[in-house]
Amino acid sequence: RTTEHEITLGHLTPNTQYFYSVHSLTETLAEGPDFNFITAPPTGQPKPTRIWVIGDPGQSPDDGQIRVRNAYYRFAQQRRTDVWIALGDNGYFYGNDFEYQTNFFAVYPELFRQTAIWSAIGNHETWSVAAGSRIPYLDIFSFPTNGEAGGIPSGAEEYYSFDYANIHFVCLDSTTSSRATNGPMATWLRADLAANTLRWVIAFWHHAPYSKGSHDSDDPYEVEMIEMRHNIVPVLEEYGVDLVLNGHCHKYERSFLLRGHYGDSKTLRADMILDRGSGRMNDTGPYIKPASGPFANQGTVYVEVGCSGSIDTPTGRHPAIAFEELHRGSLVIDIDQNRLDVAFLRDTGAIGDSFTLIKGEPEPLRLCNLVLRNGQAIVRWKSTRGERYQVERSTNDQSLGWEPASDPITATGATSFWTNTVAADPMRLFRVVRLAPQ
Ligand SMILES: [Fe+2]
Ligand SMILES: [Fe+2]
Repeated sequence: RTTEHEITLGHLTPNTQYFYSVHSLTETLAEGPDFNFITAPPTGQPKPTRIWVIGDPGQSPDDGQIRVRNAYYRFAQQRRTDVWIALGDNGYFYGNDFEYQTNFFAVYPELFRQTAIWSAIGNHETWSVAAGSRIPYLDIFSFPTNGEAGGIPSGAEEYYSFDYANIHFVCLDSTTSSRATNGPMATWLRADLAANTLRWVIAFWHHAPYSKGSHDSDDPYEVEMIEMRHNIVPVLEEYGVDLVLNGHCHKYERSFLLRGHYGDSKTLRADMILDRGSGRMNDTGPYIKPASGPFANQGTVYVEVGCSGSIDTPTGRHPAIAFEELHRGSLVIDIDQNRLDVAFLRDTGAIGDSFTLIKGEPEPLRLCNLVLRNGQAIVRWKSTRGERYQVERSTNDQSLGWEPASDPITATGATSFWTNTVAADPMRLFRVVRLAPQ
């Protein structure tokens, strides 16, 4: 006799709402208007997609976990959650069936009825059995091993990939599987990413590679954090993965747009930060991943959100982290065509942080500021690394007789600037233009 059942539903049509009920031979176990789901759209077809991400949620359940949940329910209103991700440590303390029931399944019944959850293995998932034994998690969940939801078959439930609309998701196991560069997981990962044709790629696992939350990714004892950063992150960046989601540290931290930082925090160099701005539309502008050129599709943002249950004393501040805060909360991700928006939703309902990634198209040229001081003009604008720009001037706003004021300027970062002496008289107009590729 078992209380765990697994049923495969076949012949479903994409993008279609289905209602369901659950019965035994003698009684109705679950039924009602809330018991319905919408199947994924055809793979590759863009659809405005809402993703909810929780990290280290299953604490007791205590008030904090409930407040985080309620804040999301209030935020979402009637907007359906298309993809739901849990980053591990889902049921404290040992991750056994009883704790999963009380600390996880019983906390989000409304969402479980309508949305599939995709999870990664945290360290607490392994604590109820001897090392190397089969963990309850693998019976609690049923994840694809044979590419059933897209991607290359992983042959393991511990790590897998799946597609939704124009997004490819990769779940990795930082806890129980080999993290070696040439281990089975890394080998599968390379094949999976090489085969992907979808526009967006989001990867997630439990142990954050860049953190000084309740665990320090510089601490030599934190082998999971170190080996994922050293062995796995280079593979993800080689294939242009856009966003990485982690938990384990009970705090919120998210990085700048990064590339090439695989050592401890002291090895972070300025050129590994592709955009030192906030990534906010109303501030220094979104992070941009160019579609072509020598820097095509480069740059990844790393978000650590292991605070959907409780928060714990941090160990410091990691220099790759653009923004952090010690609040309970969850992550709301919206993807529409070539734009990805991320918001950290606190348990109070306030947005603690947000940023935007845009890929595949150049953004309209945007001036940051123009300073005129002591006969000097300083012009700053948002740029794409490797592209060429030129400042032009005109003395007559009627004739549009623009002439070069600067030599061509090849951008080396996400912001470029030009400065020169300007005559007090006559009146001059300046503008910045993007030059055609050479
Ligand atoms: Fe945790
Ligand atoms: Fe953990």
